[in-house]
Amino acid sequence: MSDQPKSKNITWQKGCIRLERREALLKQKGCIVWLTGLSGSGKSTLAYGLEQALIENGHLTYVLDGDNVRHGLNKDLGFSQEDRHENIRRVGEVAALFADAGLITIAAYISPYQQGREHARKTVPEGRFIEIFLDPPIEVCEQRDPKGLYKKARAGGIKNFTGIDAPYEKPEHPEVTINTANLDTQLSLEKILSHLTQAGLLSYNDQS
Ligand code: ADX
Repeated sequence: MSDQPKSKNITWQKGCIRLERREALLKQKGCIVWLTGLSGSGKSTLAYGLEQALIENGHLTYVLDGDNVRHGLNKDLGFSQEDRHENIRRVGEVAALFADAGLITIAAYISPYQQGREHARKTVPEGRFIEIFLDPPIEVCEQRDPKGLYKKARAGGIKNFTGIDAPYEKPEHPEVTINTANLDTQLSLEKILSHLTQAGLLSYNDQS
């Protein structure tokens, strides 16, 4: 699909409230924390754990979860390569709007293609996209199989299942990599929170 809008007679309308005003109000930086990895790698667990930890520390945050968004906004999409591209394109755009509203936006998607993740990265200013690669071995994901999907896919009941008969392109330069087979949820959350703190995203001052 072209990167250009289909419509011709449209003009960008600029509001008079800048992102900095919203960030000063919220005392945080609007950003996208993008969790990528196989089904069963721990994306939803870490996304909701992160949401809870941030809220408890006074930060406004919101989770855009793959399964959930496919019940509404993306209910017309399946798991072909084309549909996954469109899934990630749409959620990337939504995440960028949330980030522009000043929220720490947590996106949890398999997002198996490098190109889709790179596109999502470009929707926000530099430094505002934190790619978290959850990298347990597929055998561990398959053993966990929280939704019974690997079993179903192995039995031929699901086609194009990521890691089985559909590809997962590993991120080349993620900000954080976590092997959730070796690191428990609490320590994984601490690793992510420490990155966000060091990157200056959990505070705001006029010089920033
Ligand atoms: S993505 O590839 O387009 O990024 P997404 O994160 O939305 O995938 O997938 C949401 C959930 O759909 C997965 O966590 C998994 O539980 C389920 N699912 C259903 N069918 C498939 C499939 N063919 N491949 C991978 N996950 C699937």
